[in-house]
Amino acid sequence: MARVAVVTGGTRGIGRAICEALRADGFTVVANYAGNEEKAKAFTAETGIPAYKCDVGDHEAVLEMCAKIEAEVGPIDAVVNNAGITRDGTLHKMSFDDWNEVMRINLGGCFNMAKACFPGMRARGWGRIVNIGSINGQAGQYGQVNYAAAKSGIHGFTKALAQEGAKSGVTCNAIAPGYIDTDMVAAVPEPVLEKIVAKIPVGRLGKAEEIARGVSFLCSEDAGFVTGSTMSINGGQHMY
Ligand code: CAA
Repeated sequence: MARVAVVTGGTRGIGRAICEALRADGFTVVANYAGNEEKAKAFTAETGIPAYKCDVGDHEAVLEMCAKIEAEVGPIDAVVNNAGITRDGTLHKMSFDDWNEVMRINLGGCFNMAKACFPGMRARGWGRIVNIGSINGQAGQYGQVNYAAAKSGIHGFTKALAQEGAKSGVTCNAIAPGYIDTDMVAAVPEPVLEKIVAKIPVGRLGKAEEIARGVSFLCSEDAGFVTGSTMSINGGQHMY
C-alpha cells in the first residue's frame, strides 16, 4: 500500500511542487491549506490531490485534521512542514502580533504537526519529517526578526526531533531554501528584491521544483541514513 504524505501549505508555491513530486514518487499525497479556498479548489481540480483546511498554528485544529486524514486516507507516514507566512518590518515598526503570528504559524505549525504524527510513525517504525526552514533562518535578514527567529527555530527543532526519532526509523530533516520564485518572494519590494538577486551567485531566483526535488530525496527509502541535516538550496547565496 502506498505511503501517505501530508504537505502543509500544499496548494500553492513550493508546497504544490512538493505535493506533485511526492505523488510522482508513489506517495498518496494530502495537501493542507489555511484559507485560500479558490486556490485550494483549483489545486484539487487540477491535480486530484485532496486538500484539508486547517490553521497549522492552531494545536487542536491540527490534531483534529490529522485524525481525519488518518481515518479517511490512512496512517500518515511523511509530513512536510511547509506552511509559513511573512510579516516583514524592521523591529521598531513590528507589532507583537506580527511577531506572534509568524512564530505561531511557522514554528508552532511544526510542533503541532509533529505532535499529531510522530507517535504513529514511531510505533510503525518508519517516518519522514521534512521541515522547510530558510536561508534567512541561517543568516538572518534585515526586516525579519520574527521570520528569521522562527526559521532558525525550525533548524533547532529538526536536530532535536531527529535524535528522538532515529532509533525508530523516523528521520527528521530540514531544507533551507534561498529566494524562490513564489508569491511570498514576489511580495518583496522590487528594488529590494533586485539587490537580493544580485547577490545570488547562480544569478536567478530558485524554482519551487528545485526545492521539491530535495524533499523528494529526504522522503525516500534511500535517505534512511540522513537525519538531522539541513539541505541548503539557495543558488550559492549562503554557504553554511
Ligand atoms: N541592510 C541594511 N539596510 C537596509 C537593508 C538591508 N538589507 N534593507 C533596507 N535597509 C535600509 C534602507 O536602505 C533604508 O535606509 P535609509 O532610510 O537610510 O535609506 C532603511 O533600511 C529603511 O528601508 P525601507 O525603506 O525598505 O524600509 P521599510 O520600512 O519600507 O521596509 C523592509 C523595510 C520591510 C524590511 C523592506 O526593506 C523589505 O521588505 N525587505 C525585504 C525583506 C526580505 O528579504 N524578506 C524576505 C521575504 S521572502 C522570504 O522570507 C522567503 C525566504 O525564506 C527567503
